[in-house]
This record gives sequence, structure tokens and C-alpha cells, in this order.
Amino acid sequence: MGPFSWKDAPRPLVALAPMAGVTDASYRQFIKGIAPETIVYTEFLSTDAIHYGAKRTMQMLHFDVDRERPFIVQIFGKDADHFLSAAKIIEELGADGIDINMGCPAAKVVSSCHGSALIQKPELAQELVYATKKAVSIPVSVKTRLGWNTSETLIPFCKKLVEAGADAFAIHGRTYHQKFSGAADWEPIYELKRQISVPVIGNGDIHTAEDAVKKIGNLDGVMVGRGTFGNPWVMREICDALQRATYNERTSSHEYTAISFTEKVPFILQHCELAVRLKGEGRGMREMRKHLSSYIKGFPGAAELRAKLVKVEKLEEVRQLLRV
Ligand SMILES: Cc1cc2nc3c(=O)[nH]c(=O)nc-3n(C[C@H](O)[C@H](O)[C@H](O)COP(=O)(O)O)c2cc1C
Repeated sequence: MGPFSWKDAPRPLVALAPMAGVTDASYRQFIKGIAPETIVYTEFLSTDAIHYGAKRTMQMLHFDVDRERPFIVQIFGKDADHFLSAAKIIEELGADGIDINMGCPAAKVVSSCHGSALIQKPELAQELVYATKKAVSIPVSVKTRLGWNTSETLIPFCKKLVEAGADAFAIHGRTYHQKFSGAADWEPIYELKRQISVPVIGNGDIHTAEDAVKKIGNLDGVMVGRGTFGNPWVMREICDALQRATYNERTSSHEYTAISFTEKVPFILQHCELAVRLKGEGRGMREMRKHLSSYIKGFPGAAELRAKLVKVEKLEEVRQLLRV
């Protein structure tokens, strides 16, 4: 297999959205086990921290070469020199691509001119893409939002980044101002795809395979984040539905049989085992609590079970609690 390229990767592209505190190695590997064709990204990682070799961030760059390809490292920052050195380190570690975060709306991130703040600083954004491209031969993509408070700037902004060398885009269909409110608007994303030559992935509010088929339109692919919470199986359904839709017709509908709780249990345990193997039992299980809570949503007796699952310290406790 040759080096990963956004242009040549099999269509339609299906990506797991980068999510801080969620898409660690265990979550990525778990999702890849369910839908191996998924493109996975790390949580956003600071270029300053990578530049200075901060231990925790360097650990977050570790990935399993056999289970996580194509593996994209998402970075953020504002210092072009640090983008350059961080990018070289990422390439040496064997990643398949680098993605630059220009969409995070968190106050702490934006006030220090990272993430979404770059939408208002197109020259700096361009410089960061250029510095990263200069440093590496792997592809450099950008994940951003529709704009700051309007989607009118999306196309000129992305065109500038293409000039600097951006190889692909993932666009979350909300503005910075919207944060996570309202419904994601995909229309400006379709228009962007009509006007630029590089691949475009749409993102925002995909919760079912039907959503993915309805929303993909003229795009190269879709990216799914919160829709996987408690329901990682949706990635399998999305990949299958988009394949079917490509070869048949995009409107074809298909009934999915919901997976029963008993069928889910071995998967849930598998996710726990990955977390324990990769982070140790104490930290691994603490970080699993939020996932466990999502997995049992809607099941009879969930409230009672959740109260116990959010306190688990050991994998064995989960095995006991989920014995159905
Ligand atoms: C908990 C959480 C953490 C996130 N962290 C990141 C991040 O590190 N980098 C990023 O580009 N977007 C991040 N996002 C945004 C998602 O990648 C995605 O754009 C957004 O959730 C919309 O997609 P969805 O409706 O499929 O969830 C995060 C979202 C959530 C909910």
C-alpha cells in the first residue's frame, strides 16, 4: 500500500471526528475494530507541547500501526516554527497525515488565538499551513467551521489555505458563534466543494446511517463525532449504507436491526479491555466511566446500573455488573 493521500483514499471517506477526552487510542482502536475503513484522528494536540516534548502529549501521539491506519494527528497552535518542528516529529513517528484545528470554539483556546480564532486571522492560518507543508511530505488537512459568525467567509478562507498547500478539509457546519447550538448547515459545505479542487468532508449532526446518506451530497465523505457516543456500531452502518448508496442510489433505504444489550456486552468489555491495556486499570477504567454511562442509555434499569458504573475502578466490576 502506498502512502496515504486524501485524493486517492477510497470513497466515500468516513472519519471519526477528533474529540478531546474521547478519541484516545482505545476509542480509535475500538471503532476501527467495528468499521476498519474509518479514518481516525487523535484528539487535538498542542504544537507547543510537541515542540517542547511534553511527556503527556508525546504519549498521546502513540498509535498502533496495525490497527489505526490511516492515522491522522490533529494539532493546534499559533506559532509557525512550532508547527514546523511538531510536524517533523509527527511524520517521523509514522503518522499518515496531519490535520490543523481551526475550529475549536472553547474560550481558553480562542482567547489565546488558537482553534476558531484563526478564522479571523486568515494570513496567520495560511502561514501555519505553509509551515506544516514545508516540514513534511505527508498530507496536511484542515478542520474548521463555517466561519466566525457567518458562512460567507468559508470559501475565501479555504481558498487561501489551498494556496498555502492544504490537501483536504473537514468542515463542521456551524459557525464559531453557534458553538454547538442549532442544526448544522451543510449547504455552505456543498458550495465549498463546488468551488475548490481538494477533497471536502462534511461534519455535524450525523447520528444514523440515514443521516449520512442524506447529507453526503457532492462531498468526498462524512465525519461523525457525538453520534458514536454509546453507539459505536453506527460507524459500521454508515460505511455500509454509503457504499450501498454509491453503487445503487443514494435514496435507497435500509432497515437496521437494533443490536440488543446482550449482544453489546462483549463489545463494551472489549472497549474496557483496550482502555486498561493502553492506560492501566486505574486511569483506563476511570476514563471508561463516561462511555459506560452512554452504552447503557435507554435500557431498563439503566439509572440504577449507571449509578454503579460511574464508580467502577476495576474491569472485573464491569464484568460483574454487565452479567446479563
Ligand atoms: C467532547 C468533544 C470534544 C471535541 N474535541 C475536538 C477536537 O479535539 N478537535 C476538533 O477538531 N474538534 C473537536 N470537537 C468537535 C467534533 O470534532 C465535531 O466537529 C463536532 O462534535 C460536530 O460533529 P458531530 O455532530 O458529529 O458531533 C469535539 C467535540 C466534542 C463533543
